[in-house]
Amino acid sequence: MAHVSASVYTSHVPAIGVAIDLGKTDEPYWRPVFDGYQPSRKWIAEQIPDVIVLVYNDHATSFSLDMIPTFAIGTAARFEVADEGWGPRPVPPVIGHPALAAHIAQSVIQQDFDLTIVNKLDVDHGLTVPLSLMFGQPDKWPCPVIPLAVNVVQYPAPSGRRCLELGKAIGRAIASFDEPLDVQIWGTGGMSHQLQGPRAGLINSKFDQDFLDQLIAEPERLAATPHIEYLREAGSEGIELVMWLVARGAMADVAGGSAPTVRHRFYHVPASNTAVGHLILE
Ligand code: DHB
Ligand code: FE
Repeated sequence: MAHVSASVYTSHVPAIGVAIDLGKTDEPYWRPVFDGYQPSRKWIAEQIPDVIVLVYNDHATSFSLDMIPTFAIGTAARFEVADEGWGPRPVPPVIGHPALAAHIAQSVIQQDFDLTIVNKLDVDHGLTVPLSLMFGQPDKWPCPVIPLAVNVVQYPAPSGRRCLELGKAIGRAIASFDEPLDVQIWGTGGMSHQLQGPRAGLINSKFDQDFLDQLIAEPERLAATPHIEYLREAGSEGIELVMWLVARGAMADVAGGSAPTVRHRFYHVPASNTAVGHLILE
């Protein structure tokens, strides 16, 4: 059977992708950010998974206001790279895993979650920046990736509770897939940031560090945090953090297993308008 071996959490700041693509990672502004991911690059090089389920949000690249799925799974064999802001990044296309994706859709929908099945999907910085942070600039990504898109762009976004429960359902789906795959699940976005309005530039390090503490040790309690608290404390785009709860819900301890090991934890301000947070749980 397949199993979830680890979860990875990271911000997906688009300017990080631009810094990588333009060779600016050694500049004084960016050096501390990329240094924080060096242990992660080493860690993952030693255990490339068979598949990554990558929880992210689309930023009006594939889903516009014309159509807003709350939860969507990419079932295609291949996903092209696109972006709404700086344009498509010069990174390899993302190769999917249609068999596992179809199984997750089947299992999760039968567990009463309404996933939208997306057979054609372009992926933006929400998905490609985390891949670049963890894998650098390879000619092709080292493993297949299943995109799992969550609407955190247009209210109503799903609750933290709903995201944690979805993660549990995904964990059960993976555990019932009849191939011995090593699967990682990644949660992306955040941490505190607000991109518009009078509070643009808001960062709340205390909220972010508390979020990391609770994500590690008390995910059920963290899942009860209401939207209004993310909005007040972490800014309008801080709501992206609910996606981390999807990944957290797929870990064994949430279903009664043993607690995960913290492999790496990193936090840095600033990167663009955003607090960068990063965690690896194994
Ligand atoms: C920024 C951060 C994001 O998460 C995003 O999607 C767009 C911009 C920023 O910090 O500029
Ligand atoms: Fe974002």
